[in-house]
Amino acid sequence: MDTIAKIKQGRLPQHLAIIMDGNGRWAKQRGKLRVFGHENGVRAVRETVETAAKIGIEYLTLYAFSTENWKRPRLEVETLMKLLVASLRKELKTLNDNNIRLRAIGRTEALPKKALKELEEVMAMTEKNSGMTLTLALSYGSREEITSAFRALSIKVKNNLISPDNIDDAIINEHLYTHDLPDVDLLIRTSGEHRISNFLLWQIAYAELYFTDVFWPDFSEQHLIEALKSYQNRERRFGKTSEQLI
Ligand code: IPE
Ligand code: IPE
Ligand code: MG
Repeated sequence: MDTIAKIKQGRLPQHLAIIMDGNGRWAKQRGKLRVFGHENGVRAVRETVETAAKIGIEYLTLYAFSTENWKRPRLEVETLMKLLVASLRKELKTLNDNNIRLRAIGRTEALPKKALKELEEVMAMTEKNSGMTLTLALSYGSREEITSAFRALSIKVKNNLISPDNIDDAIINEHLYTHDLPDVDLLIRTSGEHRISNFLLWQIAYAELYFTDVFWPDFSEQHLIEALKSYQNRERRFGKTSEQLI
């Protein structure tokens, strides 16, 4: 069995992103309501955040709520928002103890006022931390993010602030929610689904993908280590040949 110490000796992803999926099915397996799964998913979030910080991951981005998730039953959405408020409040100390800075991406203005306020407070109270940057994707949709970037860029072109000839990768990047994050190196999705579900489409262009059948509430330190081990055994060629990399 690999340990944190062993994993730390190898190459690490600078930016790790996770699609935390399978809470509902985890609860259903136990004959419980979906919200029971969400409640138990919180433990996995805490363990993953702490482990990632201990390992020395610089950027961890967690998909917590998508733009499409607003279409879920009202009670489920309300429970998820309540859990968000309660967890932010409870985990502030953990974040500070581990020198973690909290950020958020997505249309966060769509969140209930109370959740947004709590989020902004915790972000402000962890702003000066210099360790891992933890980004929560909340009310996040990649197409929505790209659409907003197009809109902002079109306005700048219209007002002669930039010329269409100057639009490149870097300028597009500057207009995304993730403008101050590096590209994703490793993307993990739990629950056995093999899809991206509108998460960081631009930013995963060259990410390594890792899928596991484990439902999110069961995801543990050891599962994260397994995913990182798999990452360390891959060759990232970025279009080049293997020989060119030496
Ligand atoms: C992930 O688990 C949590 C959110 C999307 C908020 P799900 O709630 O999607 O659980 P499954 O996929 O239905 O099992
Ligand atoms: C993706 O999971 C969103 C989050 C994990 C927050 P979903 O459960 O919403 O994705 P689909 O609907 O199965 O693609
Ligand atoms: Mg799901």
